[in-house]
Amino acid sequence: MNSPAAPDPAARPIGLFDSGIGGLTVARAVAQRLPHERLVYFGDTAHLPYGDKSTAAIQAYAVKICDLLLRQHCKVILIACNSASAAAYELVREYVGSKAQVLNVIDPIVAQIGRHYAGRRVGLIGTKQTVNSNVYKKKLDALDAGVELSSLATPLLAPMIEENFLANAVSDDIIAAYLAQPVLADVEALVLACTHYPLIKPQIDRYYAGRVAVLDSSDVVAAHAEAYLAGAGLLAPAGPGAPAHHFYVSDFTPAFEESTRLFFGQEVRLEHYPLWE
Ligand code: DGL
Repeated sequence: MNSPAAPDPAARPIGLFDSGIGGLTVARAVAQRLPHERLVYFGDTAHLPYGDKSTAAIQAYAVKICDLLLRQHCKVILIACNSASAAAYELVREYVGSKAQVLNVIDPIVAQIGRHYAGRRVGLIGTKQTVNSNVYKKKLDALDAGVELSSLATPLLAPMIEENFLANAVSDDIIAAYLAQPVLADVEALVLACTHYPLIKPQIDRYYAGRVAVLDSSDVVAAHAEAYLAGAGLLAPAGPGAPAHHFYVSDFTPAFEESTRLFFGQEVRLEHYPLWE
């Protein structure tokens, strides 16, 4: 990966990273909302899943990935992973300083919940890292909106989705077994706090049959990124053609590349960038 000369600030790319390809759901929402922006995506496939890793390990990975995105002159680094947002956002923000704006996938949806679910009971599903960090509860409590949050770690869902087990008897059973847990009883909304989960939103919607609002953060996160760029005067100008995105992974297998269609809506070419060799 070459480091191009520093271009005009608005023409600089948006960097995104995730443990793997799940964060492509966020990249897709950003690309749809901001079609002139060039994206540099890094999937740390050598280290997935992040959901089972320690906070210290995720922080170390995140810092190294940010070095790479900064060498690419990214104007924004969007942490497109709940587990990494929970474990490393504060550290990464400090580390990156004024070189780029660091955004996460948690704050925009927390703000939305505070606006729409004040005084109500909300459920959340995510990885062990996200749920055990309690980050959503801490941020919601800080809003003082009286949201009662109940969270459940659902570690089988991300590997299930990566295996393309989305709509069959096994996946329906796993989803139902999790959603039937008493901790999620009587919630009015359910936060999908993992960037893999938008792919099973239809199944979760079907389970609840309209009784519970299922909140996917990708569009809210993309809208938040747009608002930041507009406010900072950093929206990319329209170019002559489609922007040339780059999608890097720290470990390459053809299966990862095939799965990009699921997460990004079209298959994209993954470039192997062995950051840890
Ligand atoms: N995409 C990650 C997240 O949003 C979960 C996958 C993983 O465990 O690496 O938390």
